[in-house]
Amino acid sequence: MCGIFGCILKEGKAAPLIHESLKRLEYRGYDSVGIATIADGKLFLKKDQGKIDEVHNLLNLDDLPGSIGIGHTRWATHGAPLKVNSHPHIDCKGEIVVVHNGIIENFLELKAELQNLGHAFVSKTDTEVMAHLIEETWKQNPKLSLQQAVLESLKRIEGSYAFAILSTREPDKIICARNESPLVLGINGKGVFCASDIPAFLAVTNKAVYINNGELVTLTADGYKIQKIQDGSPVVREPTTIEWTAEMAVKQGYPHFMIKEIHEQPETLRNTLRIQENYLDLLATFLDRANEVFLVACGTSYHACLAASYMFSKLAFLPTFPVYASEFVEQCGKSVSIDTTILAVSQSGETADTIAAVACAQQRAATILSLTNVIGSTLTRISRVYIGTQAGPEIGVAATKTFTSQLSVLAQLAIRLAKKRGKVSQDEMDLLKEKLNQLPDYVDMVVKTQEEKVKQLAKKYASSKVYFYLGRGVSTATAYEGRLKLMEIAYIPSIAFPAGESKHGPISLIEAGFPVVFVCPRDDGHRTIIGNIMEMKARGAHIIAIVEEGDEEIKALADDFIEVPKGIPSVLTPIPFVIPLQLLAYYTALEKGYDPDMPRNLAKSVTVK
Ligand code: AGP
Repeated sequence: MCGIFGCILKEGKAAPLIHESLKRLEYRGYDSVGIATIADGKLFLKKDQGKIDEVHNLLNLDDLPGSIGIGHTRWATHGAPLKVNSHPHIDCKGEIVVVHNGIIENFLELKAELQNLGHAFVSKTDTEVMAHLIEETWKQNPKLSLQQAVLESLKRIEGSYAFAILSTREPDKIICARNESPLVLGINGKGVFCASDIPAFLAVTNKAVYINNGELVTLTADGYKIQKIQDGSPVVREPTTIEWTAEMAVKQGYPHFMIKEIHEQPETLRNTLRIQENYLDLLATFLDRANEVFLVACGTSYHACLAASYMFSKLAFLPTFPVYASEFVEQCGKSVSIDTTILAVSQSGETADTIAAVACAQQRAATILSLTNVIGSTLTRISRVYIGTQAGPEIGVAATKTFTSQLSVLAQLAIRLAKKRGKVSQDEMDLLKEKLNQLPDYVDMVVKTQEEKVKQLAKKYASSKVYFYLGRGVSTATAYEGRLKLMEIAYIPSIAFPAGESKHGPISLIEAGFPVVFVCPRDDGHRTIIGNIMEMKARGAHIIAIVEEGDEEIKALADDFIEVPKGIPSVLTPIPFVIPLQLLAYYTALEKGYDPDMPRNLAKSVTVK
C-alpha cells in the first residue's frame, strides 16, 4: 500500500503541491518518496529512500519546474526500501515515467520477456515493468497515442494497480488507471488531480471523481476523460462533493485509525491472497525440511504464532513450538542448533525482543524465516527468507488488520506444506483454498451485520471489573488476542486461558455477572466447550458467545451472542472470529472515554527489550 499523486495546473509549479499532497498520504507508506515533472518537453525527477521530510531536506522536492507532475510515497513490497527501488520509475530512454500502488503479479515473466527484447532494468520492483512495457508497445506501433499505448500495455498486466503515467512525447497529459488499488480524481478551476486517496487533494478541492476498477483516465489541464480498459468505451461520471476535513480524510471519515483498520480487513486480506506463489513455496519448503520449528514473536504476533501451531499440526502434521520472543533466549536458547528453524513473526519487523531472539538463534546457525508487514525492516534484513503480509501501514497502536493478514499468510503456508507432504486430499485442498478466498467477504459480512450488536454489548459490560476469554483448540489463540485488545485500549483487567484449564484454578475467580467470552466455532471442540459454558453459568457468569450462524444450541445457553458465517474450516476460524473481539475492545474503549489509537504506555513498535 503506497500513495500516488498527480496534477496538471493551468498555471504555477506543480512540485510544491505534489510534495504537500504526498505528505497527506504518508500514513500509506513512508519508505521512500519521489516526484517527476515535465517542463519544455524535458523530464525532471527527484527521488530517494526515507520519509518525505528527510528527502525534502536533502533534495528540495519543491524545486522541479513545470506545471504537470506525478509523485509517490512508498510502502515497500517488492524490492527493499532503497533509492533504486523508489518511484517514479522510467523506461530505457527516459521518455516514460510511472508511479504505482499495488502488486503486478506477473511481473517476473513480463520482465524476462522485456529483458530478452533488450530492455535494461535498474530496480527490483514490479512497477518498473510498466514503463518498459509502454516503451515496447510504442516501439512496436509508434503511431499509437500515449493513452492507446497504456491501454495496450494494461492488457498484459495481471494484479492490482493504480498507475499515474507521464511522457515527454505528450507533455500535457497524465494517464492513470485502476484495478483494485484505490484511485480518485480531484477537480477545481485551477487544475486536475489524481490520487490514491482523497486526503491528498482535500486542501485544494472537495470535488472528487471516483475511478472504478477497470477504468483508465486521460487528464489534461481542462479536465478528464474516463474509458473502460477492456474495450476503450467512454464512461461519463460527474464529480461528487466531499464533506470531510483534511484531518478526517486521513482517517477516511472514520473517527479513529483503529476502526478504519478493522474495516480495511476485507481489502488487506485480499492483498494477502496475491502474495507471490514462489515466496510462499520457498518458505514452505524450508519448513518442510526443518527438524524443529520455533514460532517466535511478541504480543498479537505471538497469538498468530499460537494459531499457526494448530494449523501446521492439523493440516501438515508438522509440530511447531510457539515461544514468546522475550523468553526465547532463556527458554530455548541453549537447545538451538543448525537443525533449528525459526519462523519469526512481527508486524513492524523492529520489535527488539523478536530481533534479539532471532539473533540468538542465528548465532547458533539456525535458519531464520520471517513474516512481517514492513519490507526493509531489521527482521527482513536478518532473515534467510521473509514474506511481507501486505496489510499496508497500520497506524493504530492496537494491531488488527496485521493480525488477520498474518493468519492468512500462515494458513496459506500450512496448506502448501500439507500439499507438499500429501497430508490432505485434493478435495480438502480445494475446499480450504476456496474458503480462504472467501474469507475477505466473510469478514466484511461480520463487520456489516454484527458491528451494531457489538456496540450494544460494549455499552452493557463497559463497567465490568474483569473480563474472561475462553476457547478450545485454535480458538485459544483467538481468545488470547481478544483479551489483549481489551486490555490494551480499554484497560480492563482480562484473563484468557484454554477453556479446558478453567476448572484447574481460574474458575475460582468467577462471580455472578462476570462477562465470560467464549469463542466457539462448530469444530472438534464444540461439544466439550458446551460443558465449559455450563460450568461458568453455574457460577453466575454472563456468557458472551461468538458462534457460527444458526448455532441454536450455544445461543440458547448464552446471555449474549455474536454470529459469524458458518462453514469455515476450523483452522481458518481465528480470522473471522477475532473481528467481533476487535470491535468489542474498540467500542468499550470509546464507552470509557479512551482514545483507541493512542493507548497509554504503549508504542506501535517496541524497539526496546
Ligand atoms: C498489539 O496490538 C500490540 N501493538 C503489541 O502487542 C504488538 O503486537 C507487539 O508489540 C509485537 O509487535 P510486532 O508485531 O511489530 O513485532
